[in-house]
Amino acid sequence: SSAWKLDDHPKLPKGKTIALIVLDGWGESAPDEYNCIHNAPTPAMDALKHGAPDTWTLIKAHGTAVGLPSEDDMGNSEVGHNALGAGRIFAQGAKLCDLALASGKIFEGEGFKYVSESFDTHTLHLVGLLSDGGVHSRIDQLQLLIKGSAERGAKRIRVHILTDGRDVLDGSSVGFVETLEADLVKLRENGVDAQIASGGGRMYVTLDRYENDWEVVKRGWDAQVLGEAPHKFKNAVEAVKTLRKEPGANDQYLPPFVIVDDSGKAVGPIVDGDAVVTFNFRADRMVMHAKALEYEDFDKFDRVRFPKIRYAGMLQYDGELKLPNRYLVSPPEIDRTSGEYLTHNGVSTFACSETVKFGHVTFFWNGNRSGYFNEKLEEYVEIPSDSGISFNAQPKMKALEIGEKARDAILSGKFDQVRVNIPNSDMVGHTGDIEATVVACEAADLAVKMIFDAIEQVKGIYVVTADHGNAEDMVKRDKSGKPALDKEGNLQILTSHTLKPVPIAIGGPGLSKGVRFRKDLETPGLANVAATVMNLHGFVAPDDYEPTLIEVVE
Ligand code: 3PG
Ligand code: CO
Repeated sequence: SSAWKLDDHPKLPKGKTIALIVLDGWGESAPDEYNCIHNAPTPAMDALKHGAPDTWTLIKAHGTAVGLPSEDDMGNSEVGHNALGAGRIFAQGAKLCDLALASGKIFEGEGFKYVSESFDTHTLHLVGLLSDGGVHSRIDQLQLLIKGSAERGAKRIRVHILTDGRDVLDGSSVGFVETLEADLVKLRENGVDAQIASGGGRMYVTLDRYENDWEVVKRGWDAQVLGEAPHKFKNAVEAVKTLRKEPGANDQYLPPFVIVDDSGKAVGPIVDGDAVVTFNFRADRMVMHAKALEYEDFDKFDRVRFPKIRYAGMLQYDGELKLPNRYLVSPPEIDRTSGEYLTHNGVSTFACSETVKFGHVTFFWNGNRSGYFNEKLEEYVEIPSDSGISFNAQPKMKALEIGEKARDAILSGKFDQVRVNIPNSDMVGHTGDIEATVVACEAADLAVKMIFDAIEQVKGIYVVTADHGNAEDMVKRDKSGKPALDKEGNLQILTSHTLKPVPIAIGGPGLSKGVRFRKDLETPGLANVAATVMNLHGFVAPDDYEPTLIEVVE
């Protein structure tokens, strides 16, 4: 329809093949021993810097530039890919939940009313990631949710925690559990029966994504719903401290546990009539769990029991699937994304990544929407990720395969846009294994090279950027930028993302003469990329998109 029609760009032609490469977790930082990108051989990416400032520059990928509450919020893949795909900055889940909690509106909404109907006679369960990482959830939001629920009649509260160590330092789980436990003690003193009921590490229990490994969700189900786990403790702080010492365990991979009473009975299995709120605001790692909690028909694992519960998500995690049906805060309405516009204007697209990032270049890119806009014009290819391993064991991951798929798509001549996410620097960076992360960055660069070569052959254009930082800085730093030591004098390896800017570069034989990055934008960020790409496809972006990064000089 005419509302979707984009104006022709006055100077740039249509019909060029564009490779759009997102390096996940690839920021720009000063070179030192903790900068794995600098320390890896990355000739393809390094060569691009010679084009600075005309064809290589840095853009913001964190904080308010991607819709997060503050400039202290590091970027992440959800908000990063949302901004890249949507070309505008939307207040994101973290921010929307902050507002709803601050105003108290969260407790007046339909979602909360629905779950609160269980408060008189049944238990309220809260399930989610326990940290202040701000990527998937925040402990202060959980605390407000617990407080507000108790004030509104919740008499029996059970918290099912997932320890982090990925968006925050490994080992910080103990402190977060202590904080939560202190709150629950206070509640108990005030007559509310509130306890931690189960737990486990986020990468091993519950928070899988994109159907990489249902066993992860099953472990959570067993602990949270069935009250069964290989480890039983009377106290959650003790559980976390003890289980961290298990071989191979850390916050991310903590084995599942349940809390039991003096008679050895689990204190908080989820049963008929209970209310369940999942307090993560970010979608990708909640979708599988939400399906298990909500779908009557379900064959991914044997649930043994399927309790009739009142379930609400902090947000609705998938707008297309309406999953879950009930939620406390409305998600950002990311509409009119660049992908939708481009399909309406006849641009054909190929998108590809491996499982662990597949939804990033599809679901997140398209404004948290599953599926195609136009099946005839789009093809999305998922390369199965290795599962059941920590990615430092296979740091090359599927970079080569992604490169090959992109190359073939480019050479096929069938697609105007070939979009990939290359996950290595992020996924391996999150393990905190510096040596493996160097290997990961090298592998990512080889995939980039493969795609550049294909673009060269078809006389196309490449745009290469990243969604946020990670591998460029692997150590916690003090205010002066020096590595910050802990109490024992040890370095603190950073498994999380960073606040760093990310590079963006354009090039290729198809790039029209005179195209260069503008110098007049004050703080360009990821949201400026969509208009840029639309220009390179020969179109002018819609008026309300963040401005393009490029200009054409005669
Ligand atoms: C994760 O979910 O793996 C991390 O919390 C964030 O990583 P991502 O934003 O790069 O996916
Ligand atoms: Co990441």
